[in-house]
Amino acid sequence: MIDEARKRLIFALDVDSFEKAQAWVDQLHQQVGLFKVGKQLFTRCGPRVVEMIRERGADVFLDLKYHDIPNTVAKAGVEACRLGVGMFNVHALGGLEMMQKTVGEVDSWCQQNNRPRPTMLAVTILTSSTEETLRGVGIDQPVTEMVVRLAKLTKEAGFDGVVASPREVELIRAACGNDFAIVTPGVRPSFASLDDQKRVTTPAEAIAAGASHLVIGRPISAAENPAEAARLILEEIAGAL
Ligand code: C5P
Repeated sequence: MIDEARKRLIFALDVDSFEKAQAWVDQLHQQVGLFKVGKQLFTRCGPRVVEMIRERGADVFLDLKYHDIPNTVAKAGVEACRLGVGMFNVHALGGLEMMQKTVGEVDSWCQQNNRPRPTMLAVTILTSSTEETLRGVGIDQPVTEMVVRLAKLTKEAGFDGVVASPREVELIRAACGNDFAIVTPGVRPSFASLDDQKRVTTPAEAIAAGASHLVIGRPISAAENPAEAARLILEEIAGAL
C-alpha cells in the first residue's frame, strides 16, 4: 500500500536553482514518486533538472501547461516524451484539435521509440480564476460548468486526466468515470499550515473524493522533518486507498 501511495504523491519543486532541486530530490525520493517541475525551475535550469530527477529513480511531472496552436503543442509534447517525463500537461482551453493532435503525435513517437506514453493531463480552469475572470475573457458560464465541460473534452481527446482543485474532484469523477486521472493541489494534512491556500482538503479526503494523485509542496518543504512529513502523508494516502 505504501508503494501504491508513493506513486500518487507529487512534490512541487518550487525552487529557483538546480542545487536546491537536487537537495530536495535526494531527501525525498524514497517517499515521493513524482517531482513537479514548473515554469520557474524549468526556465532556470532546463532539461538537466529532469535528467537529475530521473537518475535518482523518480519520475517527473513537467508542469508547463502548454497552450498554443495544435502543431506547436504536439511537438512540445513529443519533446517532453524524449526527455522521459512521466507526466505533462496542457490547457484544455487550447481545444479538442490541439489535444487530439498531441495525443496522436505522442502516441506514434512513443510507439516508434518503444517508450511508455507519459500521463497526459489538461488544466481545465485555473483555480485562480473566478466567474469574474471568465466574464472578462468573454465566458459567461459558471466555473464549475466550465470545469466539467473541459474535463469531458479532455477525455474525448484521449488524454489521461486533469489537474483540478479538490473541490471539483467529485464532479469530474462523476462526469468522466473511474478510468481518468485527477491530480489535485491545495491539499493540507492536519499537521500543516494553510499558507496561501484557501480551500483545502486533507490527503485522505482528497483520495476519498476520487483524486488519483496529490500535489504537495509546503506541507513537506516547510516541515521540521520533511521526509517524516512525507512519510505521514503516505500513510494517510495509503489508509484512504
Ligand atoms: O506548497 P503547496 O502545497 O501549496 O504547492 C502546491 C503546488 O501546486 C504549487 O506548485 C502550486 O503552484 C500548484 N498549484 C496550486 N493550485 C492550483 C494549481 C497549481 O497550488 N490550482
